Amino acid sequence: MTHPLEQLRDDALREIDCASDEQTLETARIKFLGKSGSISRWGEEMRTLGKDQKPIVGKLLNEVRNAVTAALESRAASFRSRMESEALGKIDISLPGTTHEIGALHPLTQMWQRSIEIFRRMGFALADGPDIEDEWHCFDALNTPPEHPARNEQDTFYLPDGRLLRTHTSTVQIRTMQAAPPPIRVIAPGAAYRRDELDATHSPQFHQIEGLYVDDNVSVADLKGALEFFMRELFGAETEVQFRPHYFPFTEPSLEIYVKSKALKGGEQWVEVAGSGIVHPGVFEAVNKTRGDNAYDPEKWTGYAFGLGMDRLAMILFDIPDIRLFAQNDLRFLRQFA
Ligand code: DAH
Repeated sequence: MTHPLEQLRDDALREIDCASDEQTLETARIKFLGKSGSISRWGEEMRTLGKDQKPIVGKLLNEVRNAVTAALESRAASFRSRMESEALGKIDISLPGTTHEIGALHPLTQMWQRSIEIFRRMGFALADGPDIEDEWHCFDALNTPPEHPARNEQDTFYLPDGRLLRTHTSTVQIRTMQAAPPPIRVIAPGAAYRRDELDATHSPQFHQIEGLYVDDNVSVADLKGALEFFMRELFGAETEVQFRPHYFPFTEPSLEIYVKSKALKGGEQWVEVAGSGIVHPGVFEAVNKTRGDNAYDPEKWTGYAFGLGMDRLAMILFDIPDIRLFAQNDLRFLRQFA
């Protein structure tokens, strides 16, 4: 004889099996296992049973409840997976994906990195200084007297408080020597600013790589060797380098550096790419004064310095006709260097 509980179980399992959606399944759950559901009611019924019946019916009740609960759960799980596969079915996996555009380095950044890499091989470390400077670091300490034309308001961007935008990266020479005694071998890439009219070869913001080497017996021969090596690494082994006498307040002697290379477009012409020279003793003395020592004793130490025009170098290397292209952010231009 089947117990009424077994009958209930069979009814419940059939209903669960027939439930076509989550809602009918929930109705079945309430009907059989809800608070006043027909299986739950047997819990109360138990109290009325005799001692011999209680354990038997109790065990049966547990089995029935477990079987129905398991059936409910498995049916609900199958609804969920059906819903998921329906949702996935709506995704067209043959559609092209969303592409990520990978950027490229700006030609000036590429120039920067190539240059740093070459100087690193020669033992140069990187140095840095602020774009907003004071007159002392930009001019006085660099042996540039107050009447020098570079200090003119027509050439330099002055801030209302008397500070200025550095007109060259040579300021970093001073900051480096203030911070550490010799020997020094650094390069400092960065921006510089002058009140130039914007045209194909002039920009109020341009870029330089400053170099400074201070040690025992540093000579013009060392300067020439290092910069010739640099230019040949950059522009190719057949590059010719010329040093022409010039004047800078902070070097003596001073030399301008020109390059010419057949490997480059328009390579028949000498192009000026840097200023350089042997550090003027007056520069060491200005540094000593603020250091409060004689670390840069001009009798003991010598050094060379140079300032490379980065924009010019990049324009030569990549055959770029106009300095304004660097700052216009025109993707047709920039993509050519990707
Ligand atoms: N500061 C100079 C300029 O911007 C370039 C220069 C010349 C840098 C000679 C130097 C140097 O370090 O020794 O025109």
